[in-house]
Formats: sequence, C-alpha cells, structure tokens
Amino acid sequence: MTFPEILPKATGAIGMFDSGVGGLSVARAVMARLPGESLLYVADSAHCPYGARSEAEIRALSEGITRFMLAAGAKVIVVACNTASAAALSYLRQTFPQVPFVGMVPAVKPAVQLTRDGVVGVMATPVTFGGRLYEEVVEHYGRGVRVISQTCPGLVERIEAGDLETPDTLALLRSYLDPLLGAGADTLVLGCTHYPFLIPAIRRLVGDSVQILEPSEAIARQTERVLGQRGLLGQPGNAATARFFTTGDAPSMARALRQLLGLENGDVARLQWREGVLGE
Ligand code: DGL
Repeated sequence: MTFPEILPKATGAIGMFDSGVGGLSVARAVMARLPGESLLYVADSAHCPYGARSEAEIRALSEGITRFMLAAGAKVIVVACNTASAAALSYLRQTFPQVPFVGMVPAVKPAVQLTRDGVVGVMATPVTFGGRLYEEVVEHYGRGVRVISQTCPGLVERIEAGDLETPDTLALLRSYLDPLLGAGADTLVLGCTHYPFLIPAIRRLVGDSVQILEPSEAIARQTERVLGQRGLLGQPGNAATARFFTTGDAPSMARALRQLLGLENGDVARLQWREGVLGE
C-alpha cells in the first residue's frame, strides 16, 4: 500500500507508541523536557507483549500505528519500545521517508563506560536481543567488557497489571537479577521501556553499588534535537495537550496513567484494529 506524502508540521504533536504502558516511562521524560509539545501516545495493549511476537508481525503493527498517528497529526514518531525498534525501526524509516523517527536500543554504550568491574547486565526481550541494532551496539561498544543478556519473561505482564511491588513480581525480578549479579554485573541496562517502573524494586534487590541505566532522558533529548534540526519544534506558549490511546481496555489505561504518571483524568480513548488498519 502506498502512503500519501504527509509532511510533518511544527504545529503537529509528538507521536509515541509501545506495546503497552511501558513507553509511558519515555512519555514522562518527553513531557517534562518539552512541556510546550502535544503528545499522542498509542499503547497496543491488545498485542502486548511484543517480545514474543515475530518481527514481521511487529513491523505490521508498528506501521499501522504510525499511519494512525500521522493521520492524527503527528510530526515525529518516537518508537518508545526497544522491541519495536529492533524489529521495525529501519522498515518504518524506509516506508515513511518524510517522517522523522526516534528509536531506541539498550544503553550498552554508556554502560560500558560506567562499569568498574567490566561486567554489564542487559535486561530486554528476545526480539530486542535478536535484532541487528543490538548486535551492532555490542560489537561496536562492548569490546573488553562482558555484556550479559537476560530475557525477563512475564515481567511486562506484571507491569501492565500494575503489580510493581507484589511478592510474585519481586520473586520473578529476583530470578532475573540473580544470574546477572552472580556473574559480577555492576551495571544494569534496562533494555525495555516497561522496566523503569520497577526501579524502586530493583534498587532494593540489588543494593546501592549497582548502577541502573534507563534511556528515557536520552530519548527526550534526542526527540528535542530531531525536532530542532527539522524546524519542527512548537512555538513557546503553545497550548499542549496529551492524548492517550489503547487498543485494549480504556479504564485499565486510565488506571496506568494514574499509577505510573500520577495523571488523574487523562484523556484516554480506545482504538480498534480492523484488518491491519488502526482507527477509533
Ligand atoms: N516496552 C517494550 C520494550 O521496550 C515492549 C516489551 C514487550 O511488549 O514485550 O521492549
């Protein structure tokens, strides 16, 4: 399917998506850094988690979400999901050449600079670890350091359910942290945008000496840079709005906004997939 050229306009919004509520960790940083910009956030909760899906499926979902956000006036698309970035970022850039994209890859580069003992633990999904982006980053920056990959099945579902501190979540978390700590990791990279919501629990489990890296501030800075380079930054004094969409259940999304962002009465709407097309 070809796509009519939609040229991004400075009056547009920042479009952002994730498989679910994880990308809200990025949304929080972007809203804090760019308070004058409007935000459209899509949580594809109907397909969460992405981590166990095929690359082809994640590409198709990412394309459908991108089309929806462009039609709704997005001027940049922030792929606030390591998994979707791994599977779909280069495909999205090829498919929508006029549109600026900001994507992400686990923060191995800063972790390698920070580790004292030369052991870095990375927590992410199988799709993220299997992607070329990750391979390149480890190859390029990981020399001389042991970079250990740890998948964390079940953790995203806990965060989606709002179970950040329950005994089950803590036990699951411990089972993923123990092998990393046992191997001597002194630096942890949270390579999934859901995991920053577990930082208080992770900190308690790993103690103060372990460094925890998550990328939301860096993504917010990159979004500002990309908008600036393209002349797409909003004018000061713009009336910024934030709209949140979910392909799942709107009350659950509203609950997540309260719990994760402290946002009461967030503007939440439900979207539906119909034959690969996303709409209201
Ligand atoms: N928040 C996501 C990521 O950054 C998605 C995880 C998933 O849906 O499996 O990888």
